[in-house]
Amino acid sequence: MESVFRWSQSSRLKPLLQSRSYNGVMSSHALTTPPLSLYVHLPWCVRKCPYCDFNSHEFGSGKGAAAPPFAAYVDALIADLDQDLPLAWGRTVQTVFFGGGTPSLFPAEAIDRFLQAASSRLRFAPGLEITLETNPGTAEHGRFEAYRDAGVNRLSFGIQSFDDGCLQRLGRIHDSREADAAVKLAQDAGFDNINLDLMYALPQQTLAMAAYDIERALALQPTHISHYQLTLEPNTLFAARPPQGIPDDDGAWDMQEHCQAQLASAGYAQYEVSAYAQPGRQCAHNLNYWRFGDYLGIGAGAHGKLTLGAEQAILRRWKVKHPAAYLAAAASGDIAQAIGGDERIEPARRPFEYMLNALRLVDGFALAAFEARCGIDRAAIAAPLEEARQRDWLQIEAGWARPTESGRRFGNDVIALFLPE
Ligand SMILES: C[S@@+](CC[C@H](N)C(=O)[O-])C[C@H]1O[C@@H](n2cnc3c(N)ncnc32)[C@H](O)[C@@H]1O
Ligand code: SF4
Repeated sequence: MESVFRWSQSSRLKPLLQSRSYNGVMSSHALTTPPLSLYVHLPWCVRKCPYCDFNSHEFGSGKGAAAPPFAAYVDALIADLDQDLPLAWGRTVQTVFFGGGTPSLFPAEAIDRFLQAASSRLRFAPGLEITLETNPGTAEHGRFEAYRDAGVNRLSFGIQSFDDGCLQRLGRIHDSREADAAVKLAQDAGFDNINLDLMYALPQQTLAMAAYDIERALALQPTHISHYQLTLEPNTLFAARPPQGIPDDDGAWDMQEHCQAQLASAGYAQYEVSAYAQPGRQCAHNLNYWRFGDYLGIGAGAHGKLTLGAEQAILRRWKVKHPAAYLAAAASGDIAQAIGGDERIEPARRPFEYMLNALRLVDGFALAAFEARCGIDRAAIAAPLEEARQRDWLQIEAGWARPTESGRRFGNDVIALFLPE
């Protein structure tokens, strides 16, 4: 994913959620079935980046390094999808996202085989968005055409920076020249819907350097830019030994504001904490997450969320994290072993989980959408909504709740108001 949950997964919020139980009354409302997406996790990378806490596993490169078992993994994905199908009977898939890891390590035939299998099992909406995450260090001539022929129509490049010093400090396998070349190769292959991932507040980065990264990104005319503040995630090399010269919060905020203005004047409107798009080019897949839509999660460590209309329940299901365990489950013939766990999102937890997503959006959410997606009457959240309004974190008008600028800056504090008591 384009790192959609980064601030929402704050380690500060997790213990709070686990330690509190809800005593309030949840007046009920009909839970309606939202749009359905399909997320596919491809978990290998050439090298593990020192800041990355995604479920990604280094397989190495160069002579002697064994390639990941692409064919066996696609077999496992198809078996995994088959076992999840009953959760999505009769529904139409609106978006597909291959995330990682480094999906662009996979040969196009593997992506093609999976998409053919998926579209023969599930109804695909006409012209649906199909995104594949791409590392510029894995770009090869001919590969982009083959991805496009397989049905991929959107690429998301992990660029991070156009400064070679920054790229080195981030442990990336590519340099800025390769980044430019990879994007141009994709454009020449006919891709006209491209996201570039950039990070800011990098070690030894100045405001001018962050602005330069935006300029270089804009010169490539992508349709979408994701602009993430570097986070020191627990259990990463950067968290264990933080690099020198990471800008402080105020410095990072200045970069964010400056880059946001640069992007706005080039026609890229911010629609989410870290996401900017040309008109009509928002990422439909991520929007579905942020609107608390449904998704099947296929692949090692993938998470799914499904609304079960008949039961008026919301189910989360996740898969075992390690690719070896995932592959072993498929090889054993008992794919159920690939399920890491299932849980229902009880009504008391739904407002918090909804806000984790919806409050990332610049436009916020309609109260009617909250009711439909959570199966809970808006009256149940009247008190935290009012508190957020009084603190100037939310603007509430004509049935919509929209984060103010200060609400966006202190997103975690706003969300914490919706924790079950
Ligand atoms: C799963 S990665 C996908 C792209 C591909 N694996 C790559 O890195 O080239 C998604 C994006 O999350 C962002 N990201 C990863 N770790 C981060 C961190 N610790 N702080 C901020 N952004 C991060 C990066 O911009 C990265 O491109
Ligand atoms: S290439 Fe992407 S997924 Fe892989 S380790 Fe680096 S940031 Fe993480």
